[in-house]
Parts: sequence; C-alpha cells; structure tokens
Amino acid sequence: MDQTDLPLTTRAPAKVNLTLRVAGRRPDGYHELDSLTAFTAGEGDGVADGLSLLPGASLSLTVTGDTAVEAGPDDDNLVLRAARALQQLCPGLQTGRFTLEKRLPVAAGLGGGSSDAAAALRLLARLNGLAADDARLREAAAATGADVPVCLAARARVMAGLGEVLGPQLTLPALPALLVNPRVAVSTPAVFRALAASPLQAGSPPAMLTPDVATEAGLRRYLLAGWNDLEAPARSLCPEISEALELVQRMSGCWLARMSGSGATVFGLFDDQAQAEVAAGRIHATWPAWWARPVMLA
Ligand code: C5P
Repeated sequence: MDQTDLPLTTRAPAKVNLTLRVAGRRPDGYHELDSLTAFTAGEGDGVADGLSLLPGASLSLTVTGDTAVEAGPDDDNLVLRAARALQQLCPGLQTGRFTLEKRLPVAAGLGGGSSDAAAALRLLARLNGLAADDARLREAAAATGADVPVCLAARARVMAGLGEVLGPQLTLPALPALLVNPRVAVSTPAVFRALAASPLQAGSPPAMLTPDVATEAGLRRYLLAGWNDLEAPARSLCPEISEALELVQRMSGCWLARMSGSGATVFGLFDDQAQAEVAAGRIHATWPAWWARPVMLA
C-alpha cells in the first residue's frame, strides 16, 4: 500500500463521442457502435468528477458535489459496482471508503458514471499494486458497463462493438471545445427506441481513420466527415438539443457542433481556446440554467 499518498485521488474526465456510428442492431436488441471517443484533459478539478479512496476494511461510497442529487442512490452507484466486480476477480482485494465529488451532469452523454467506475478501478489498482494493463481490470470494467472499458485509460481511441472492442490509444491534436448541456436528462433506451424510427446515415461508409488524424488538418477532415447517428432520434425526443446545437454552431470560431453519446450534451469545436471561453460566457448569459464549460479534448 502507498502510505505516502493517502487518500488516493484521481479525476474522472468526461467522455465525448466525437463521432458515433450505429453499425448494426444485434438479435438481442443492443446496437453495435463505432465511435471516436475523446476525454476532457487537464489537471485539478477541470471538467471532471473527482474520486478519492481512503483504504479501509470495508467498501463504501459517499457522493458529494454539484450534481450528486442527480446521481441516484449511493449503493447502486457504478463506483461500487466496479469495485465489487474487481473484488470478485481478485479475492482479498483491499478496498476502503470512496468519496465521489460529482460535477458532471448525469444521464448527459458524457459517460460520467462510467468514468467514475473506471476511476474506481484505477484507484483500486494503485492500492493493490495491479498493473494498469492487468486483464482483471478490463474484465471488471466490461462487467460494469459498456462505456467503462474506454474510460479505463481515458485516452482518445475508437471504441466498437458494445464498447468492449477498443482501438489503439491515439495521440490527437488537442481540440479546444465547448460542452453545453441544456439540463434535460435523456434516457438512453428511449433514444435507441427512437432510432428504430429514424434512418441511419449508414448508406455512407464511415471515413477511414488514418494516421492523418494525428495532424490538425487531418483530424478536422475526419471529424467533419463524421456524424452521430443518435443525434436525430435524441433531437426528436428533446428539442432543447436542437436549440443547443444551433446556438453553439452560431458562436464565433465554431467549426463543428455535434451531440455526444445519446445526449443531451452537445459539443462545439473551436479554432482556439479563447473563442470557446467567450462562447461559454455568452451561453451562460443567454441560458443561465444551462451547463456550459470550455474544455480541451484529447
Ligand atoms: O448501456 P446502458 O445501460 O446505458 O444502455 C441502456 C439501453 O440502451 C440498453 O438497455 C439498450 O436498450 C440500449 N443500448 C443499445 N445499444 C447499446 C447501448 C445501449 O441498444 N450499444
């Protein structure tokens, strides 16, 4: 155990689906996805949840923070589910008291709960001396939820299948961005149900991910050729998503506006960070109840 650094802490960044293609529907009703996924970069609070673990004899969780009330009962939290999944795989695993500082909007398409679960696995790995690439971490992540494996390393990469198929970690040019959530929770199952009633862009094959995405121009080309298949069905359920997209798109310096995950959070990509900050200020002024944050995605 690392006695010099207690409690152990980590940030659980937001996950943003820069592109999201629904590749097909399985007989069990689940959908195969193909998504270039990135994360909010930065130190300290940033745009992320915060998780700490005080080693102890029994596993527990306390949730605090701005969006804690939205997060549901603590005993059903993905942090605990992930910890229990890893306990099953690692008899004798030391756990302790988790404290989650919840700052990301919940049910927002930002993978907050999944990122919290992945953060819990990272802290337990540190506490128990498990290597970052230990297969049991991946197994516990996959058992906890579809988005948890991609959140384990929290690095940009393509995720496919139901989230269990991960491409190599990518080093993308950092993307100055604005995240906007109109503070309406969107139900993921409802969006997938609505998808059945709206056409996919599937006719057009996805752009190939080439080494070109390591350059700013190549990444822009790739992203501009992409889309999010869940955007149309989510907009049909939640008109605020359309409002947010239109508002972000009109901001000076925004070259792409798109929804993340199954919504309702939308992101705008900007030529530079200052423009994203100005845009966040303008959105706060226009829609004070909305959640708007300038971020760097990587
Ligand atoms: O992963 P999560 O529990 O948020 O998914 C909620 C619901 O969304 C699933 O029960 C399923 O109906 C739908 N879903 C899907 N395909 C996926 C992920 C979710 O159809 N890849």
